[in-house]
Amino acid sequence: MLPRLLLPIIGGVLILLIVDQCYGKRKWDYEPLSIETYSTDESMLKIAAKVERVGRGAYAISANIEFKYTPDDNTMVEAMAYRSTSGDENDYKIIPLTIPKQPYVQFMNNHYKDVVLPNLGGCSNLVKFDDKFEPPWPQDTYVLDKCVANSDGFPDMVPEGYYKVNFTIMNPVDWGFILIVKITTKLV
Ligand SMILES: *[C@@H]1O[C@H](CO)[C@@H](O)[C@H](O)[C@H]1NC(C)=O
Repeated sequence: MLPRLLLPIIGGVLILLIVDQCYGKRKWDYEPLSIETYSTDESMLKIAAKVERVGRGAYAISANIEFKYTPDDNTMVEAMAYRSTSGDENDYKIIPLTIPKQPYVQFMNNHYKDVVLPNLGGCSNLVKFDDKFEPPWPQDTYVLDKCVANSDGFPDMVPEGYYKVNFTIMNPVDWGFILIVKITTKLV
């Protein structure tokens, strides 16, 4: 039998765990509709990506990125995001959820570390680091194998609609992807 004093403690921990599950949990569902990739020079960078359905309401992104160049001080990263209520191509309006154009090393030390790695680190051979990114980024073939984003680093609440993200890496080759995701509010 459990000592009587322990019961309230166990109860308290359980309540904390349950509260933690209810708050700080995303209240939206996402459905990636398409991913389109581009590269201005495939001899330097070749990219292919696809979205697959891996279950009810679950989607996975797989990609293959052949890095045949070494990013340098001129290499910049930028992402622009657009939202459309109807999904109509002409409806997309720019939204402030962007990654301002910045040197790639700066991107590595914030967005890459805080959003990319927590979401894609476990399903890919993307470069991992704990503290600070040390250039150069190695030339290699990077494979994302059925990555299901767990939404780490994303807000709890996101307005419904269609979102388009254009992620670009520039100089000496310009490449990236355009992802369209449909967001719906979760029915509780
Ligand atoms: C994506 O961004 C790049 C760099 O800003 C730009 O050249 C390209 O036209 C954009 N594509 C779309 C479809 O918005």
